[in-house]
Amino acid sequence: MGNRVSVFDTTLRDGEQSPGVHLDVGQKVEIGMALVDLGVDVIEAGFPISSPGDFESVQTLSKELKGVTVCGLTRALAKDIECAAEALKPAERARIHTGLGVSENHLQYKLKMSRDQALEAGVNAVKLARNFVDDVEYFMEDSGRADREYVYRVVEAVIDAGATVVNVPDTTGYTYPQEYHELISNIIERVPNSDKAVFSCHCHNDLGMATANTLAGVLGGARQVEVTINGIGERAGNTSLEEVVMALKIRADYFKVNCGINASKLLKISHLVSRLTGMMVQRNKAVVGANAYAHSSGIHQDGVLKERSTYEIIDPKMVGADKSEIILTARSGRHGVKHRLAELGFSFTEERFEKIYNDFLGVADKKSEVTSEDLRDLVETVH
Ligand code: KIV
Ligand code: ZN
Repeated sequence: MGNRVSVFDTTLRDGEQSPGVHLDVGQKVEIGMALVDLGVDVIEAGFPISSPGDFESVQTLSKELKGVTVCGLTRALAKDIECAAEALKPAERARIHTGLGVSENHLQYKLKMSRDQALEAGVNAVKLARNFVDDVEYFMEDSGRADREYVYRVVEAVIDAGATVVNVPDTTGYTYPQEYHELISNIIERVPNSDKAVFSCHCHNDLGMATANTLAGVLGGARQVEVTINGIGERAGNTSLEEVVMALKIRADYFKVNCGINASKLLKISHLVSRLTGMMVQRNKAVVGANAYAHSSGIHQDGVLKERSTYEIIDPKMVGADKSEIILTARSGRHGVKHRLAELGFSFTEERFEKIYNDFLGVADKKSEVTSEDLRDLVETVH
């Protein structure tokens, strides 16, 4: 097993399934280009049979995007696979992503199939897809809740049928990191032909575990991660690309793998996806939130102004942000206020500064943030 992790972005497919989000073809191309620039390996462009608009999106992205694999989602049905193959025809590198549920819950309530019937349908889907493309990914929907012995059987059969990548989705965000790690590592250990395919993590965030589970999957031997920008997606969302990438980079000592992402483009693409989807990024979101490199308490400000690494494990420049921010609030100390005054071009004797600082505390107790404008007013009053 190599140490290169392939990044499969599904912002345009699973991400676009976020309630309330719709992207037109032009917007998808804009995001697709930015994803190529970011360095992702695979772009899941859509679900071609789902609507004429999605077919057109997959076809257009297949024409426009170079240097990346373009992927289309299908159910394990011949008409879906034929439709995806048609949409993907212009792609430099095309992948069909097909599959079926593997949990008892999905087999019984959704698919109304026995295990054997589902297995046969899956194998036939892979064989058919291989007639059109060399690269076929098989998803075992709801693997997180499935019987492990059945999962092993499915993996072996779909690899024999020609699957090049096997996706192990925790569709309902049910598993915990240790369980997901075991799921991946047990598949790799127990399935005889597991060395013939790459295993992929596809985790949802229902219990806030998507990033942790994906990273656990990588530790367990998965070499593809399925992610979206800002973690958008069905319900509580998918695994967030920026979180996984930065964890792999910042903790390279621990994970000992690498990926092809240019992290300095992360903030820019986060803003682009937020603007085009209308989905705001929460201020305290890891890596790309507005507060991710902002310090407001006196203790933290003092530390970070003396040495950034006291409270920051990520240099904001790494993700394309200008610098850390010192936010002035009633919890800020003298060091932070002096720093912000200096940024505005002011410096004072200690005596004068004490007067400004006392007035600052009076203002700060009434507001959530003391702005540069407020600081200028304070300075004027003292003068
Ligand atoms: O969550 C899931 O299981 C999926 C599959 C269709 C890959 O999105
Ligand atoms: Zn999903």
